[in-house]
Amino acid sequence: MRAVIVREHGPFRSPRLETVPDPVAGPGEVVIDARAIGVNYPDLLVIEGKYQFLPPRPFSPGKEVAGVVSAVGPGVTRFRPGERVMAQREHGTYAEKTLSPEATCYRLPDALGFEEGAALGLAYQTSHFALVERAACRNGETVLVTGASGGVGLAGVELAKALGASVIAGVTSADKGELARRHGADHVVDLAAPNLRDSLRAQVYAAVGKRGVDIVLENVGGEVFEACLRALAWRGRMVVVGFASMRLPQIQANYLLLKNISAAGLQWSDYREREPVWVQRVQAELYALWAEGKLKPYVSQRYPLARFAEALACFVERRVQGKMVLLP
Ligand SMILES: NC(=O)c1ccc[n+]([C@@H]2O[C@H](COP(=O)([O-])OP(=O)(O)OC[C@H]3O[C@@H](n4cnc5c(N)ncnc54)[C@H](OP(=O)(O)O)[C@@H]3O)[C@@H](O)[C@H]2O)c1
Repeated sequence: MRAVIVREHGPFRSPRLETVPDPVAGPGEVVIDARAIGVNYPDLLVIEGKYQFLPPRPFSPGKEVAGVVSAVGPGVTRFRPGERVMAQREHGTYAEKTLSPEATCYRLPDALGFEEGAALGLAYQTSHFALVERAACRNGETVLVTGASGGVGLAGVELAKALGASVIAGVTSADKGELARRHGADHVVDLAAPNLRDSLRAQVYAAVGKRGVDIVLENVGGEVFEACLRALAWRGRMVVVGFASMRLPQIQANYLLLKNISAAGLQWSDYREREPVWVQRVQAELYALWAEGKLKPYVSQRYPLARFAEALACFVERRVQGKMVLLP
């Protein structure tokens, strides 16, 4: 099969498509013939050696794939060859075939296409765990999502809305704000506004009143994080999901004390590995919300597998809207 192979960490354009042996399913494993591969910001960080978990080299990057089961190993009970599935992996999906434990495979609903099926994975799981498990989001609360036009952000907007929240989307341009509104945002705030430290809170107050927001789903870091902390309501919850700006923020502990604020972090892949049954349950919930029309995974760009670097360049150039997929 052909796969993108990282031999040394370095610039994201350096890995090549290589011919490597087909994977063979061991006990409890399935082989999936890829039809659509989800592209995620962390893929870029893994290739460049900047991510918190780095596989031994050489390896194939990529964390999610939708496709058809072509083989199952001994002991696999939930899947048969020919079934349509999505899988979540730590790495290895930028390839024509992917090996996955049965536990991190999810059967695709019949009416869900492969591209949307690949998009309805990591980004939605991350936002779900951030909102439900880490922030205990309740009906009627207000949620500010930063980086709201990106993969995790747009999923967060849709999910917060589905949970009955009033949603504020934090974006950097009018067209990205329109996208967020089409996916359920009630209000839009400009994260590119000058003096964000004060202007974000003013925008939030203008949108939902002087109380501020109950929850921030924070994808950006840097000055955006610091401004969001000031826009939280009494007993507000900040969930740290990512640092798309590549700037690590500091928390001033007195903010937490003064407004009874909680700050929580989310590392979704821990749940995938430690709590696979819980993650399966959440995936079933996501599929149910999709079937009700409440989730609409937005695939804005498609690239052949060989042109994976063009997709990754969109993260660097900040041209991502919703999700991108690779087609093998
Ligand atoms: N914790 C977890 O388990 C987990 C799982 C998946 C992803 N992540 C992390 O979550 C973050 C988002 O991932 P993603 O796949 O959704 O990436 P993405 O699609 O590229 O989205 C990133 C968003 O951040 C915005 N952004 C970037 N720099 C910004 C800045 N300086 N100011 C304001 N907005 C900025 C972008 O908006 P513009 O387009 O307007 O620049 C974009 O909407 C990444 O840091 C990723 O590593 C974490």
